[in-house]
Amino acid sequence: MQATSLTRSVWEIDADAFPTDGPIEDQATFVLRYAILAPSSHNAQPWAFDVDGNEITIAAEESRWLEAADPDKRELYISLGCAVENCCVAAEQFGFDPEVEYHDPASADVVTVTLEADEPADPRPADLFDALTTRATSHELFDGRPLEDTARERLEAVETATGVTLQVVEDPVLKTAVAELQAEADRRQMDDPAYRRDLGHWVGIGALGSSWLLARIGQAVLTHLDVGDREAAKNSKLVQSAPAIGVLSTDSDGPVAQVRTGQAFERIALLADSEGVAVHPMSQTLERQALRTQLGDLLDTPGVPQHLFRLGYADEAAEHTPRWPLETVLADRVV
Ligand SMILES: Cc1cc2nc3c(=O)[nH]c(=O)nc-3n(C[C@H](O)[C@H](O)[C@H](O)COP(=O)(O)O)c2cc1C
Repeated sequence: MQATSLTRSVWEIDADAFPTDGPIEDQATFVLRYAILAPSSHNAQPWAFDVDGNEITIAAEESRWLEAADPDKRELYISLGCAVENCCVAAEQFGFDPEVEYHDPASADVVTVTLEADEPADPRPADLFDALTTRATSHELFDGRPLEDTARERLEAVETATGVTLQVVEDPVLKTAVAELQAEADRRQMDDPAYRRDLGHWVGIGALGSSWLLARIGQAVLTHLDVGDREAAKNSKLVQSAPAIGVLSTDSDGPVAQVRTGQAFERIALLADSEGVAVHPMSQTLERQALRTQLGDLLDTPGVPQHLFRLGYADEAAEHTPRWPLETVLADRVV
């Protein structure tokens, strides 16, 4: 695997360049150009791909695991699930029925997606494909407009399609309580030098999208100053500005449940993008076990809370963040 720089050029994909008459390995590799556009915690992109015939294997890249923020690897597996979902959406667009197999968590490979030359029995909505290249996480204050009914209905339908439960929290009292947990989580995380160092690293290499100089300043501030109260106040306002908070939960915990959560979340993020709804994951509450339990109790979550995000309407469209090009994360193939 080559070491290359982060780039935004990966977002420009000409779908007409799909090698319709080419070998299946080239077709699978083309599908992966969409997989790497998936969201991931800190934009760490903790994935490694391999293509063998019509099989795409997705493994965790441990060197990009966020050890301080994500000690139990929940966010790592959710991020892999987002890449799996992108793979499936693109595969369906190019005429395949993607079959997802989840491996034993002890195995190095996490998931295999087999591209069957068949019609999917239950195809994903067609508008998800365009959203693969337009989706971006919004970090803005939302304007408070309530979610439109069609958008809410489409998002809630994801629950039945994936087996992961979505709660949409719109009650102002509950939202305030979530904002308080968020603020407490921010204070605790920012009080931890290892967490700040880790975040500073990803900001410093520009993964979160700022220009080089701003990124370096951001890294220095995060690494050396106590920014907990400022972060808590900012994030609590962000939560309050959202008309809805989405929480995904699963019956059991562990890597497979978390990969499935990632698939459900990415389906939600793509649908939301199609509906003009902005999405913003906020993970700090779930990164602390005591606060994760409190969140589950507060919302009477039917299972284990896995992922939390704001939903709403933003005045400005979010900008794309960069990615490592496909050849950096794909074993042994020329792209
Ligand atoms: C599991 C997971 C956790 C995330 N947690 C946060 C978070 O706590 N705060 C935040 O601002 N963004 C969070 N994000 C969003 C990422 O920062 C974002 O996906 C990444 O920077 C890539 O940018 P993009 O989504 O615009 O392509 C999270 C994303 C995932 C998949």
